[in-house]
Amino acid sequence: MSKIKFLLLPLFCFLLSAAPTRAGEGMWLPQLLQALNEGDMQTMGMKLTAEQIYSVNQGSLKDAIVHFGGFCTAEVISDQGLILTNHHCGFSEIQSHTTLENNYLRDGFWATNKADEKMNPGLYAKFIVRIDDVTKSILTGTEPGMTKEERQSVIDRNKNKLTANFKKESYQEVEIRPFFKGNQYFQFITVSYPDVRLVGAPPSSIGKFGADTDNWEWPRHTGDFSLFRIYSDENGLPAEPSADNIPYKPKHSLPISLDGVEEGDFTMVFGFPGRTDEYLPAAAVEQIMVVTDPAKIAIRDKALKIVDGYMRSDEEIKIKYASKFASIANGWKKWIGEVQGLEKTNALQKKRDYEAEFTRRLQEAKKEYDPRYAGLLPEFDKLYAASAADAKAAAYQSEITGRNVELLRVAGLMRRLTSAYENNGEAGYNNFKARLNNYLTGFYKDYVPAVDQDVFAALIEMYATDLEGKYVAPEVRTAVTNAGGSYADYAKNLYANSKFTSQKAVAGLLAQDPKAAVEAMKNDPAYKLISAIQDHYNATTAPAYDAFQTRVEEMMRLYMQAQKKVYAEKTFYPDANSTMRVTYGQVAGYEPRDAVIYKNKTYLDGVIAKYVPGDYEFDLPKKLLDLHAAKDYGRYAEVVDGEEKVPVCFLGSNHTTGGNSGSPAIDANGNLIGLNFDRVWEGTMSDINYDRSICRNIMVDIRYVLFIIDKYAGAEALIEEMNLVHPKKGK
Ligand code: ARG
Ligand code: GLU
Repeated sequence: MSKIKFLLLPLFCFLLSAAPTRAGEGMWLPQLLQALNEGDMQTMGMKLTAEQIYSVNQGSLKDAIVHFGGFCTAEVISDQGLILTNHHCGFSEIQSHTTLENNYLRDGFWATNKADEKMNPGLYAKFIVRIDDVTKSILTGTEPGMTKEERQSVIDRNKNKLTANFKKESYQEVEIRPFFKGNQYFQFITVSYPDVRLVGAPPSSIGKFGADTDNWEWPRHTGDFSLFRIYSDENGLPAEPSADNIPYKPKHSLPISLDGVEEGDFTMVFGFPGRTDEYLPAAAVEQIMVVTDPAKIAIRDKALKIVDGYMRSDEEIKIKYASKFASIANGWKKWIGEVQGLEKTNALQKKRDYEAEFTRRLQEAKKEYDPRYAGLLPEFDKLYAASAADAKAAAYQSEITGRNVELLRVAGLMRRLTSAYENNGEAGYNNFKARLNNYLTGFYKDYVPAVDQDVFAALIEMYATDLEGKYVAPEVRTAVTNAGGSYADYAKNLYANSKFTSQKAVAGLLAQDPKAAVEAMKNDPAYKLISAIQDHYNATTAPAYDAFQTRVEEMMRLYMQAQKKVYAEKTFYPDANSTMRVTYGQVAGYEPRDAVIYKNKTYLDGVIAKYVPGDYEFDLPKKLLDLHAAKDYGRYAEVVDGEEKVPVCFLGSNHTTGGNSGSPAIDANGNLIGLNFDRVWEGTMSDINYDRSICRNIMVDIRYVLFIIDKYAGAEALIEEMNLVHPKKGK
């Protein structure tokens, strides 16, 4: 080894350790595992070949992986099309079959036979048939100097041509998606089954145990699962929901291991992660940390406190707002964890170091690289610094008008209805109105104007006082002045005078002929307010902010390409984009704080220890308490220090994100060992900067799922159709 290389070695090692690919990190494309990961996975203990995970010629693991409704993952666990996903993924289906007499959300649901399984029109299960690189065909004809629109139109044309020419079966679909910020394109051939029936779900006190208090937390004790079944026509092909359909016969179903997991065991999670941003420049990460996350957190802080106050004092409000609260709190808590995690792991400094090295390499090898690379980082710094105030205004705008104030959200929809009328006449109006009516029925069922009015008063005050003056619509100032400076009085006036707070008034309004309805809507004070806020934003913020985003998108394409060239020794994985991925790691506890060590597994004893009778988050069904008291665990326990215990959840270093809910955790032999449903709070920044030391995904141990199905629900027939194995005992 030459001396100079020897001197560089420590630096090189340092760089490798700061590199974006380490065991645990990465959401890999299944068709590229053979080229990129197989060796690494086998070194970590995997006994499978890449061909057994993804094959286009024979059944492989990928044929058991389902995109569930497009928002979650599920997996096939029997040769009769039985699939497993999370309780929170099946929540709205479970809710839709729930009535006062049959409260499946509260009590659970178990189909006693196939005829009892419940259809869910609109829900689908999608399989991936094959994945191919189509970059060349898609990018043919694009040129460096093109505008965003020009480039997109060339790409769209190429896409259409490719899709039209592709020879496929009539029941298959072709999807073409960009990767690495548009530097690469892959084509997915898929098959979607639209008859997916509810088979079983535990009561919420098991499936949602710990609710929002435990969400994103470890130690965790939630049995977050539900069961569905895919149906097909008699030839095994997709068919609309019908009593004539038969259970789908899969190409592969996952065997289920009863052997359990130990620290260090190889794990792999297969699924459809939604979105990550691992390759951002430091300037962008800084904006997330100091501008946009804090803005969104501050708004939701206020809104959640108000709603929580009402939910605690009023049973009816608690029910009406439970689901909305959970979803707003889910993002809020994640962002808090994300900012803390980025700080704790020095993400910004790491990015800066990475960029300094990037710049150094460019300077050293100037001629080899595209000359535009050198200008990227300085321009990112400049653009992000200049856009900070706009970014905050944009975050406020979307959180306040699009998410947290329900009246403004409805007013925004009314505005779209009037635009539909103005742009597309009565046909456009009627089309939008039909969809709107659907939405409004659900909306008013759970709407309490008094709660929303308080949220409005608090958030409109933030809008008027936190943002720089130029971002605030003058109409809002005037209205507050007219209310004597009181935001509460302003809110009271608005909610007393807007028709949109009342389902009846809105129904009356929409019953008129379109012209009169549009007129009446436009006179509503909430309509006037949303128009003022939106128009002001469009006039003052949108032009510059949209231009910033367009420019950044263009630069990110180049920066992504540059990172891959300049850090040629690294293996890059594309950001998540709701396409099929494999991530792998190990069963692993972690150290969340100084001197605190989290073990990798929880047990039923821990569930019982959290039990609070009658509580809305920590109540438990009597049957579960009885099984525990009698230690009636069937074959689902493991022996810990001479005592039988039922495992509940465990941790791994697999790199997951939203959309991986319901994903299977698979062992070294390809058997199902768990069901992914969450990440730990300290590690939610893995979407931006994965760090092996504190990023963990949370899975339900498959033996807890089986224990609940078998011992709690007594649904033995379901257990019988599964394939239970004992790999450690060689069975
Ligand atoms: N944090 C998980 C996810 O991001 C679970 C969310 C559902 N559970 C809840 N308590 N809100 O989707
Ligand atoms: N609960 C998330 C989901 O629904 C998974 C947790 C995460 O974001 O990693 O997809």
